[in-house]
Amino acid sequence: MKQDFVEPYPELLQQAAGVFEGERDPWANSANAAALVWEQLPDLNWTGFYFLRGGQLIVGPFQGRIACVRIEIGDGVCGTAAKRRETVIVPDVHKFPGHIACDAASNSEIVVPLIASGRLVGVLDLDSPKFDRFGDDDARGLEALALLLAAACDWRLAGIDGFETA
Ligand code: SME
Repeated sequence: MKQDFVEPYPELLQQAAGVFEGERDPWANSANAAALVWEQLPDLNWTGFYFLRGGQLIVGPFQGRIACVRIEIGDGVCGTAAKRRETVIVPDVHKFPGHIACDAASNSEIVVPLIASGRLVGVLDLDSPKFDRFGDDDARGLEALALLLAAACDWRLAGIDGFETA
């Protein structure tokens, strides 16, 4: 993995690693991850998680205004990133077919899939009131955060599809 992260990602990733250390609970770690992103990145109006539970993406820990709760795989930016299992950057959400508008203030968005043990766990979603807020540097930094989080948690504890306890 390339390590040349731009600010504020080096500090964000270091803090995340420290916060996750010794803790395997998905809700605890993803709540702190959402808070870290919210604290460290400027120009956000929403950030948080949707987790794959019961065949749908269901909202998890987040910062920002009340969000839509359930998103089908393939729907909106979140469902598209989940289906493709790749990061989706949308410079202008008003031009993204099927964009799901939770907060009217959002103008651009990035969604990064969370993959653990080769399986889709959910997505990390960031919204901005600025157009074209997110670029490749954000994708690289947030993908690194997603990798850290995916490895830090025992996903069986959150009832994620494919990770149910026996
Ligand atoms: N805009 C997202 C929905 C989630 S909210 O932004 C919190 C989408 O199109 O999937």
